[in-house]
Amino acid sequence: MLDPSIVADAVKAIGRDDLELGIAGPEEYGAIEEMSRAASPGEVFSPLTATLIAWFVDRNPCGPGFVVLARDPSSRLLAGHFVFYRWRLVRRLASGELSEVPVFLYVRLYVRPEYRRRGVFSAMTAFGLDVARRLGVGLAYTAPNPRSSPGFVKFGMERRGPLPFRVRASIPGWGLMGGLPRQSRGLDVEVRSEFDASFQGAIARDLPPAIRWWGDRTPALLNWRYVERPDARYEIRYVREGGHPSGFLVTRRMRIKGLLALVVCDFWCEPRHDDALRVALVHAQSAGDRTALAVAIGSDRPPQARRALRRAGFVAVPKALLPQPIVIFGGGLGDGPARVDLPDLDAWHLTPGDWDVF
Ligand SMILES: CC(C)(COP(=O)(O)OP(=O)(O)OC[C@H]1O[C@@H](n2cnc3c(N)ncnc32)[C@H](O)[C@@H]1OP(=O)(O)O)[C@@H](O)C(=O)NCCC(=O)NCCS
Repeated sequence: MLDPSIVADAVKAIGRDDLELGIAGPEEYGAIEEMSRAASPGEVFSPLTATLIAWFVDRNPCGPGFVVLARDPSSRLLAGHFVFYRWRLVRRLASGELSEVPVFLYVRLYVRPEYRRRGVFSAMTAFGLDVARRLGVGLAYTAPNPRSSPGFVKFGMERRGPLPFRVRASIPGWGLMGGLPRQSRGLDVEVRSEFDASFQGAIARDLPPAIRWWGDRTPALLNWRYVERPDARYEIRYVREGGHPSGFLVTRRMRIKGLLALVVCDFWCEPRHDDALRVALVHAQSAGDRTALAVAIGSDRPPQARRALRRAGFVAVPKALLPQPIVIFGGGLGDGPARVDLPDLDAWHLTPGDWDVF
């Protein structure tokens, strides 16, 4: 449970008499789920369930998070919620040393229609970020949808993006765009039910020095993110050479604009295995329901990632054609020594695993 004095000080700092701000206790998760289920499906893509809240904030290996609640002070009716969960980035310092940077992500924002345009979202954001700062965390960010983006612009947050967006259509012959398969002999695919420690340290070892930020990938973190998450089913594949894991691919089947898409949520391959992504992707496409396309969003800064995406037949979609560009909003918290500025995309290997939607 959060230190009540932190919460009380943050409430005082916001100074809103027309709203009751607070942090949800587990006994309130059910009421949040009820409000979320009552929302219009056009606004809330998948409901924020009590189980999902517990996964985000109580069972997170990065540490406890919290859900900001806003209530109407006269009726005590729930007016809105905003989830703040922990995540961990790794930063390569100028000395070459690696340092762990705890961050908060803020997601699953909702304000009940009758309370909109009265500053509930802005109060919940300021309050949540202040609590995060008081907990000693120096950076927080989000990947919002276009409805809330104008608010984050108004709050003066830093922006990074849109993130690179690539597609690969499931049309016979499309894969040849990446060139004829050459290295795949000797590579095989293992479907996994969970991650082991095979890739711990691999990303730090293989990323070029210009990339100074990435999401941590310990087995505990990867398994929390992709195996234990209650409302989504991810598929995990290792690509092996002679039994040795040389890359991995995490995918999720999702409907995007009515089309069933295979979304690349995370992948990694050793720099010499340009074909690892292609091999794992073809394997994923041939298993399960037929997908119309594959989508890869996020960092393409590491040269090996760019080569692997090209070899897998992904082509970049120009920004002007993006159906819903993904932009990261956020920034450093407070002015103290814990403050960390939002990394530049050039230096940040940011994959969909580093935000919540995919
Ligand atoms: C988006 C949403 C959270 C806004 O909540 P809200 O409490 O009405 O927002 P606020 O009153 O605090 O607005 C803060 C600022 O955001 C911007 N904003 C809020 N709603 C907006 C809208 N409909 N159109 C344009 N800008 C908007 C404005 O800049 C606003 O400041 P202003 O009122 O001084 O101009 C709410 O409409 C909602 O829950 N929508 C459905 C769920 C959703 O889309 N969630 C976002 C998921 S990332």
